[in-house]
Amino acid sequence: AQADKGTYPFYMLKEIDEQPNVMRKLSQVYLNDDGTPVINADLLDAIKSADRLYIVAAGTSYHAGLVGAKLFESLAGVPTEVHVSSEFAYNQPLLSKKPFFIFLTQSGETADSREVLLNVNEQKFPSLTITNVPNSTLSREATYTLLLHAGPEIAVASTKAYTAQIALQAILAKALGEADDQAAAKDFDVKQQLALVANGMQALVDEKATFDKLAKSALLHTPNAFYIGRGLDYAVSLETALKLKEISYVQAEGFASGELKHGTIALIEKDTPVIGIITQQKTAGLTRSNLQEVAARGAKTITIVTDALAKPDDTIVLPTVDERMTALLSVVPGQLLAYYTSLNKGLDVDKPRNLAKSVTVE
Ligand code: G6P
Repeated sequence: AQADKGTYPFYMLKEIDEQPNVMRKLSQVYLNDDGTPVINADLLDAIKSADRLYIVAAGTSYHAGLVGAKLFESLAGVPTEVHVSSEFAYNQPLLSKKPFFIFLTQSGETADSREVLLNVNEQKFPSLTITNVPNSTLSREATYTLLLHAGPEIAVASTKAYTAQIALQAILAKALGEADDQAAAKDFDVKQQLALVANGMQALVDEKATFDKLAKSALLHTPNAFYIGRGLDYAVSLETALKLKEISYVQAEGFASGELKHGTIALIEKDTPVIGIITQQKTAGLTRSNLQEVAARGAKTITIVTDALAKPDDTIVLPTVDERMTALLSVVPGQLLAYYTSLNKGLDVDKPRNLAKSVTVE
């Protein structure tokens, strides 16, 4: 069923706003009242007997996989690799002895990802498709399926599917780690975290005027912009940069903040926007000094920081959640900044040039 835009000017804004409810919905569907995950036992057994997870995806789903890998490694203790479908399809790396494949795909129809699944099936390896579309091709052709329950996503630029993919991977990682008696998983209250995330997202989407203003002052007239971060914050930098380039046509890139000095810093000019994402205690100081380095060269720096790590001058402060879950909040300002940059440029936010919602050719 085609969703209704209601009073929203664009689907993208509606879908950004739906994210708190998507978090609550996933919690309802996949977690018991006491917080224990409800995941098919056969699926858990199949993943448990694997020695390595291979997450395969394209675009925004690939970025959700980068976050997911860190959840599977930290909560379930299982080594996880993330691959771009179109690369994996024709350049398969040497696999571990017992691989398990996870396909992340909002539409369940992406040809690049399907090509990998066909190869995987030929090699008789088990697989799971995590998708928003029941009965989609990748859902039918994988061994197992989990649904995102995010509701139809119409805007070409994906938002709620990304956060749904991360939340569901957190639940799956918790289930897997618990089934394997891992302390990290047992101590991780995913239900409580998703409730905190939902409230935090709501607080952010309630601040639309702030993001509109910031988009106008920092991004509207710039030819380029950079998002930087380390670890999970780097993964989110890639996604927030993609959002900005997709719909506003600003040449935006996400960088590992420590890599800036090895090349990219040459691009910094007066007023180049550099947005630092800071949610990880261990690397907060390092990213802050990387921001100082670009500020000294004229960059206009903006910070997106969790409450626990915030300083008085920070631009956007995120409510504090478990450090493994911060991607679910730190992405929201990036979504809104991209939206308002596109809107203020008078562009068709939902249907950017040259892009399709679902790409069924390789
Ligand atoms: C297209 C869309 C992207 C999406 C990618 C993967 O390029 O424009 O927004 O992330 O496909 O789509 P999937 O449906 O597999 O998640």
